[in-house]
Amino acid sequence: MKAWMCETLDGIGAMQWREHPTPEPKPGEVRIAVRAASLNFPDLLIVEGKYQFKPPLPFVPGAEFSGTVDALGEGVTHLKLGAPVAAIAGTGGFATHACVEATRVLPLPPGFSLDDAAAFAFTYGTSHHALIDRAALQPGETVLVLGAAGGVGSAALQIAKAAGAKVIAAASTDEKCALCTELGADATLNYTTQNVRDTLKALTGGKGPDVVYDPVGGDLAEPVFRSIGWRGRYLVIGFAGGGIPALPWNLALLKGASVVGVFWGEFVKREPKASAAALAQLAGWYAQGKVKPVIDLKLPMDQLPAAYARMGTRQVKGKLLLVNE
Ligand SMILES: NC(=O)c1ccc[n+]([C@@H]2O[C@H](COP(=O)([O-])OP(=O)(O)OC[C@H]3O[C@@H](n4cnc5c(N)ncnc54)[C@H](OP(=O)(O)O)[C@@H]3O)[C@@H](O)[C@H]2O)c1
Repeated sequence: MKAWMCETLDGIGAMQWREHPTPEPKPGEVRIAVRAASLNFPDLLIVEGKYQFKPPLPFVPGAEFSGTVDALGEGVTHLKLGAPVAAIAGTGGFATHACVEATRVLPLPPGFSLDDAAAFAFTYGTSHHALIDRAALQPGETVLVLGAAGGVGSAALQIAKAAGAKVIAAASTDEKCALCTELGADATLNYTTQNVRDTLKALTGGKGPDVVYDPVGGDLAEPVFRSIGWRGRYLVIGFAGGGIPALPWNLALLKGASVVGVFWGEFVKREPKASAAALAQLAGWYAQGKVKPVIDLKLPMDQLPAAYARMGTRQVKGKLLLVNE
């Protein structure tokens, strides 16, 4: 097999694409011949030791991937050799082959493409848990999605629309805003060029959004929280902008608003039945064409440093895929 092996926490620049012995699956594991792996923001953090999950060195990064079952470990009965699958493994995907605990592998329903499957569960699972479960989003409510052209953002936009909400999609460039309009956003906000508070006031008739989905953090959070509606729910998804915001608590009091934490990985571990039900609803929406990953670009697996550079400089629109031909 070939793999990107992370041996130190010095980032992608210290890693190489090279041959390794092909691993055999342990009991309870399967080996997957990887077709595609998508890049998620945590993949950038994990190779520098900046992510909350710190795997022992050496490891192969790549949290989310798809492929076919290539070998079965002892005791695995619910997966078949050759079956198309998706894996949310935390690590292992930036390779030609990966051994994964069978419990982290999902057989694909008919009609689910391998490319889409590599770019689905992480972002759509997070955004579904956030909007439908944590925020209890209701049809007719208004959702503001920050970083709406990114991975979790574009999934949130589509899920909010599928749930019957009105979406204000916010992003840093007009090009990203135009993509959000194509994806069904009711209105857009360019937070580089437009005044956030004035624009939100105008777009919501002075009421403010009912739900805010924030994977960006940093300086945007406070003006956005000041604009939230009565009984608003502010979803804390991540800090791609780098800074962890600190909010004056009186703002929550004044709006009867909630700051709601979202941690999808922990939700999957602690509430597996609820997570499986959410993924089943998402697969149904995929089959109906209500949600579909936006594929930014497909690069050969050996181009991983270029993929990291593209995500680190905010150029990715939707999801970036690394593929083995
Ligand atoms: N809580 C959870 O369970 C959970 C699960 C998955 C991911 N996350 C988090 O969600 C965040 C987004 O992940 P993602 O995979 O969707 O990433 P992504 O596709 O790169 O999207 C992140 C967006 O953040 C914006 N951004 C602002 N400043 C940035 C900067 N300095 N560098 C990069 N992007 C910047 C960009 O939009 P603009 O250019 O439009 O501002 C970008 O589209 C990450 O913090 C990740 O850790 C959390």
